[in-house]
Amino acid sequence: MTALRVEGLYKVFGRRPEEAVARLRAGATADEVRATGATPAVIDASFAVQPGEIFVVMGLSGSGKSTLLRMLNGLLEPTAGSVFAGEEQITGLDDKRLREVRQRRMSMVFQHFALLPHRSVAENAGYALEVRGVDRRTRLAAAREALAMVGLEGEADRRPDELSGGMQQRVGLARALASEAEILLMDEAFSALDPLIRREMQDQLLDLQRRLGRTIVFITHDLNEAMRLGDRVAIMRSGRIVRTGTPEDILADPGDDYVARFLADVDRSRVYTAADVMTDADTVVHADDSPSAVLAALGVHGDTSALVVDDRGGLTGVVTEGDLRDAGRPGGAGTIAAHVRPPAARVAATDPLADLLGPVGTSDLPVVVVDDEGHPSGVVHPGAVLAALAGAPAEEADGRPAGVPVDAVPVDAVPAPERIDERPELAGGPRG
Ligand SMILES: Nc1ncnc2c1ncn2[C@@H]1O[C@H](COP(=O)(O)OP(=O)(O)OP(=O)(O)O)[C@@H](O)[C@H]1O
Ligand SMILES: [Mg+2]
Repeated sequence: MTALRVEGLYKVFGRRPEEAVARLRAGATADEVRATGATPAVIDASFAVQPGEIFVVMGLSGSGKSTLLRMLNGLLEPTAGSVFAGEEQITGLDDKRLREVRQRRMSMVFQHFALLPHRSVAENAGYALEVRGVDRRTRLAAAREALAMVGLEGEADRRPDELSGGMQQRVGLARALASEAEILLMDEAFSALDPLIRREMQDQLLDLQRRLGRTIVFITHDLNEAMRLGDRVAIMRSGRIVRTGTPEDILADPGDDYVARFLADVDRSRVYTAADVMTDADTVVHADDSPSAVLAALGVHGDTSALVVDDRGGLTGVVTEGDLRDAGRPGGAGTIAAHVRPPAARVAATDPLADLLGPVGTSDLPVVVVDDEGHPSGVVHPGAVLAALAGAPAEEADGRPAGVPVDAVPVDAVPAPERIDERPELAGGPRG
């Protein structure tokens, strides 16, 4: 089941909005409609957000992001289309039920978060529960727990004006977390923060998300932030969603020039991960194998180094063809044990390329991707890293670019935005 579903959503401000929607549906451009005195802010938006997913909506100022977000929790009534939270249709609910939905199911975090100046940090964090009529003890306990999650446990009894801007923003996040709403709507929640604190907040959000698994719709006009946080990213332009996909999908295939121009500024080393550029390790051997057997295996696979694993399959190191040959008696007896060296680095599949650049650039030995149990799942070649950074992910053996899911839609198969609801990637779940 989807956590949040939006179908054919429109918001038109100004004169005769319904008429404007009819014109847009009949093929009128936004400019033509604007000439009649109406302002189309959101045009035919459709998408589905899976439980536990961070869905980022990104676009320039005025592209309709806030308008879209405010329709999700009923703060704004759509001109046409519908919104579902789980099974419940949000559009058309009466005010009382809408308030309940906002208090219990969907919590919103704004850019300039208004804290109540005369209440303590803990009371502010528990405010959503207070509005809901939860008793003081319960809500302060929940507030303290949420403050601990955002690293503010020591500040519970202070006043908001004693906190820095970044800390105040974290109180806002704590308030949303304490509300226990399963859906968090975050509108430019980090945009007012300076870059270092902003990055810290992004890390914290990713960390919280891994632990709590809330569903998050996150709005930003910063593409690097979008790429960093989003399981999937929807790009808005002049009211329309023009591209939806995982960050890797979008980087590999922007879909149109507008999106491609955005991507020029993206720090690819933080979007692509080791998993996107790794290739299978073909030659995997044991320390008690003989040099001749290992050299033969390297020859078969055309590799210059082999991964050495123990009996449980855990990585113990690497051996290179050069070391084995230099040792002389390449055809001789004995084992390779004396030639096993540590790899250039052990990395996790989720590590960003930025963390791989050092070892890849300074060592001739392989960088090995290992899983939680220490089993090798692949190796990273410098060429694949450079290709990904250059915007042309290396072709893998099966002919698809690294980092693009097998089911990714080729560019010429992407339908016009009007039919965005039929695009299969919209129904996709969060990444691994
Ligand atoms: N209440 C309103 N009345 C009339 N027009 C509005 C209203 N709210 C928004 N708009 C218009 O709708 C369009 C989209 O605005 P919106 O605030 O959703 O953009 P945004 O993407 O959130 O921009 P920003 O990044 O600057 O916050 C803009 O043209 C804006 O002027
Ligand atoms: Mg906005």
